Amino acid sequence: MVALLLLPCFFCLQLGAARDTITSSQYVKDPDAIVSAGNKFKLGFFSPVNSTNRYVGIWFSSVTAITPVWVANRNKPLNDSSGVMTISGDGNLVVLNGQKETLWSSNVSKGVGNSSAQLMDDGNLVLREIGSGNSLWESFQEPSDTMITNMRLTANVRTGEKTLLSSWRSPSDPSIGAFSVGIDPGRIPQCFIWNYGHPIYRTGPWNGQVFIGIPGMNSVNINGFDIVPDGNGTFTLILNSANESSIGSFVLSYDGSFSELYWDYGKEERVNVWRVPNNECDVYGKCGSFGICNAKNSPICSCMKGFEPKDADEWNSRNWTSGCVRRRPLKCERIQYGAEAGKEDGFLKLPTVKVPDFADWLFSVPEQTCRENCMNNCSCIAYAYYTGIRCMLWWESLTDIRTFPSGGADLYVRLAYSELENRTTSMKVIIGLTVVVGAIISAICAFCMWRRIADYRERKKRSMKISLDESMMQNDLNQAKLPLLSLPELVAATNNFDIANKLGQGGFGPVYKGRLADGQEIAVKRLSRASGQGLEEFMNEVVVISKLQHKNLVRLLGCCVEGGEKMLVYEYMPNKSLDAFLFDPLRKQLLDWNKRFDIVDGICRGLLYLHRDSRLKIIHRDLKARIFESENFRLWYGQDIWWQ
Ligand SMILES: *[C@@H]1O[C@H](CO)[C@@H](O)[C@H](O)[C@H]1NC(C)=O
Ligand SMILES: *[C@@H]1O[C@H](CO)[C@@H](O)[C@H](O)[C@H]1NC(C)=O
Ligand SMILES: *[C@@H]1O[C@H](CO)[C@@H](O)[C@H](O)[C@H]1NC(C)=O
Ligand SMILES: *[C@@H]1O[C@H](CO)[C@@H](O)[C@H](O)[C@H]1NC(C)=O
Ligand SMILES: *[C@@H]1O[C@H](CO)[C@@H](O)[C@H](O)[C@H]1NC(C)=O
Ligand SMILES: *[C@@H]1O[C@H](CO)[C@@H](O)[C@H](O)[C@H]1NC(C)=O
Ligand SMILES: *[C@@H]1O[C@H](CO)[C@@H](O)[C@H](O)[C@H]1NC(C)=O
Ligand SMILES: *[C@@H]1O[C@H](CO)[C@@H](O)[C@H](O)[C@H]1NC(C)=O
Repeated sequence: MVALLLLPCFFCLQLGAARDTITSSQYVKDPDAIVSAGNKFKLGFFSPVNSTNRYVGIWFSSVTAITPVWVANRNKPLNDSSGVMTISGDGNLVVLNGQKETLWSSNVSKGVGNSSAQLMDDGNLVLREIGSGNSLWESFQEPSDTMITNMRLTANVRTGEKTLLSSWRSPSDPSIGAFSVGIDPGRIPQCFIWNYGHPIYRTGPWNGQVFIGIPGMNSVNINGFDIVPDGNGTFTLILNSANESSIGSFVLSYDGSFSELYWDYGKEERVNVWRVPNNECDVYGKCGSFGICNAKNSPICSCMKGFEPKDADEWNSRNWTSGCVRRRPLKCERIQYGAEAGKEDGFLKLPTVKVPDFADWLFSVPEQTCRENCMNNCSCIAYAYYTGIRCMLWWESLTDIRTFPSGGADLYVRLAYSELENRTTSMKVIIGLTVVVGAIISAICAFCMWRRIADYRERKKRSMKISLDESMMQNDLNQAKLPLLSLPELVAATNNFDIANKLGQGGFGPVYKGRLADGQEIAVKRLSRASGQGLEEFMNEVVVISKLQHKNLVRLLGCCVEGGEKMLVYEYMPNKSLDAFLFDPLRKQLLDWNKRFDIVDGICRGLLYLHRDSRLKIIHRDLKARIFESENFRLWYGQDIWWQ
């Protein structure tokens, strides 16, 4: 009875003095709270969802659900409601349990003397020396998982010191989890999400206004960030203005995602307006070194031009982590191996990309000098020039590149001259200048000899794999008695893959009509590089298809594997697909019932052959019936077939 009478009175006293400060005599005891002067933030005790542990935290006072932006004793919870936050004898701000044990301390060095703590209207809890008013400690220095307006994350290039956001372990456990967010103190400032220190997401370099790796950063809601250097090696990421009217904050979730959240007063819940990682290409280094990620492609990873998968099997099974390797050695490497130097390397432009990690930064260099600096140093493999950052150079490998439809920066990658030369135009020149054919032939011979030497050395140097592939290819082709057509032949036959000669676009690449030098009409299927098919698989399919010989099947005439291209050459079917006849009011009259019977008969023969009579049993996925002049018609089967 006595207790019941006393309790309300105790609350009256506490409530009467709505305050925002903590002193050694005015402490905060569970379940009380203090409120900032403008009633924006509260500091008090709370329990996370599905937990009975008690923590001291700061949260938005206008929000009904407690969403703490800061937690004091996150690694040492209270197991009952006996907790107190107060100023200790040495002037530190502390959280004590019922046994007066210190669970958390602001841990300012000893001898502070007289101090008090105040909860400010921006959510910062500041410990000040009484008298001088100097700030001794701030909760903004020791962030939890949430960034609110005016908060700062810092990183020092020289000392490597960082302030980071660190995730909770789970929604009901605020103790320090696996993930952290902050500025990387190396080279050009950029932000990362780390998982136990390993990067899992990267924003790309800061150019003074935006992060290169977040296209449209100004237009989305995350435009309140700024990075400020202090001239002493410290970079500070400041959140200037999260949308205060709707209680905006940036939160690193326990699952490693970094989101911008608003409080929707109508629905009484948090709304996610922006987050990273948002798709597979956001994952750090998804495609390995020299791989490029494009979320719109399938598969999402491809090698840069001039590079090929380091391990084709792994790559084709969609494990891209080993990345890609250079196909033809750069000039310096050629000299190093004792081959002829040959022509100067060049740069391939990769437009609108998130530039790779580990850039070196030459701030005061104009674009032309940047290019020259890179060209003149054998170790430089790429450069980029971007407003606000200027010259970026790369030395070892190119990691974590993704392409954007727009935005990003242009990256210039160093390639051997032979990878860059435009074979199609040089071919035209060769055809035109028949007078100097002799000279050209000898030049080609010299080139071939050089290539043989270079290739030999390259192969010897790099791996057994290429030579295996090449000899395998020759064996396969000999076995199949299939001609290997040269790229120039096909370029000439299709008038340089003129768009006017394009017959259609299949899932694996466009098909062009062409005419060989001897007058034969052909259809050239140019497999797109994005198909991700390795040389071995390709040759397997060529051999299989070439072994299928039937009157009712489109014949494969040859193939071409050159200059990174893989092409299949079929006989040309002048007429369109069968459906173009059947469903066209005029053309269908051309097909009388005798013809239709013949067609059905032929289709069946073709299918019967594929399914039963051929030595190889084919499962087809992409069968198309085509009328072949006056004869029956033939089945065009897709390039992607399997055999049993
Ligand atoms: C809390 O526990 C309930 C029941 O076990 C569960 O359904 C709910 O998902 C939990 N909430 C969170 C946020 O973990
Ligand atoms: C709470 O924790 C204290 C020590 O921190 C311990 O002595 C006490 O037994 C715990 N109480 C319960 C109910 O677990
Ligand atoms: C307090 O600071 C000292 C020295 O700076 C450090 O060694 C100690 O680990 C800190 N303690 C806590 C609880 O942060
Ligand atoms: C702290 O301040 C109070 C009042 O301002 C004063 O009475 C007390 O002596 C001071 N204590 C110390 C250790 O300075
Ligand atoms: C840089 O550091 C020096 C020495 O610690 C200090 O004197 C100077 O004020 C600092 N400059 C800035 C801009 O912080
Ligand atoms: C802040 O959020 C409110 C509600 O979501 C919105 O109407 C307003 O335009 C936002 N203000 C700014 C500056 O983004
Ligand atoms: C992918 O390849 C790497 C390197 O060979 C290997 O360590 C890793 O386990 C592979 N990952 C998967 C999912 O197979
Ligand atoms: C090329 O650049 C690297 C890295 O900056 C440097 O160590 C090396 O001395 C440079 N080489 C030449 C020839 O300038």
